[in-house]
Amino acid sequence: MVDEGWGRRAADFATLSEPSNCREYVFMHERLGIGSGDRLLDAACGSGLALELAAIRGATCAGIDASHRLIAIAQDRSPASDIRVGDMNDLPWNDGAFDVVTSFRGIWGTTPDAVNSIGRVLAPGGRFAMTVWGNVGKSPGAWMFQPFQWATEEQVENQANMVSLGRPGVGEAFLDDHGFDPEERFEVPFFLEYADPESYARGMASTGPAYEAIQSIGPDKFHADAVALANDHVRSGLPLRGQIQLFGYVGVKR
Ligand SMILES: C[S@@+](CC[C@H](N)C(=O)[O-])C[C@H]1O[C@@H](n2cnc3c(N)ncnc32)[C@H](O)[C@@H]1O
Repeated sequence: MVDEGWGRRAADFATLSEPSNCREYVFMHERLGIGSGDRLLDAACGSGLALELAAIRGATCAGIDASHRLIAIAQDRSPASDIRVGDMNDLPWNDGAFDVVTSFRGIWGTTPDAVNSIGRVLAPGGRFAMTVWGNVGKSPGAWMFQPFQWATEEQVENQANMVSLGRPGVGEAFLDDHGFDPEERFEVPFFLEYADPESYARGMASTGPAYEAIQSIGPDKFHADAVALANDHVRSGLPLRGQIQLFGYVGVKR
């Protein structure tokens, strides 16, 4: 099911959608001071750009994602890292195997088992850093996520429930309830960038939430409507660009 949503256009995701996230990855790795000697796991690692960047900083990296087609790309990018297809709710590593676990938009209010599992594989005093959406609707780049609303009413409601962790106090309570001392909450730079309306439509179509919209209205209409939407935001000589509010949390394993 997960691979059908996230892996169906894995190469498009890795080359058109994921690169925009590089600011988020660099910002978080810098904040955590990732460097050589760190044993790092990225949970829900997608096609693995964050892992590739952490390895460049010298960390010993592992990653897991439920989409085998995204993991094939992550493994191709980082052959020296321990990257596996699997379920983050039941991590296949020993207790205390990592100093740091990251998860970039991979943890939701609906995934408490994943946080328990992350706590188990972290060494005592190890840090867990996650990013979660803030107020997407009020973000300057809100228009860029409009295609996700073209799913059914029930699916759109479910997407809203999944992103509750961004609200002040909710993420801290979630970490505290799952064995972490919440250390800090901070805004994380996040910008989507696309060369033109066509690449925007193609990049958006490669994401999991778009899959629900595509099922609802069909691929051709999704593409045509996304191109039309982006046409209204073209700026001469500049890429399409939009900021979406994103928060980061760091918790320390008790
Ligand atoms: C919003 S994407 C984030 C991907 C990646 N962290 C990034 O920055 O691009 C969510 C990811 O969670 C993965 N996923 C969903 N459920 C999962 C599970 N139970 N175990 C592992 N990965 C899962 C999806 O395949 C997808 O790659």
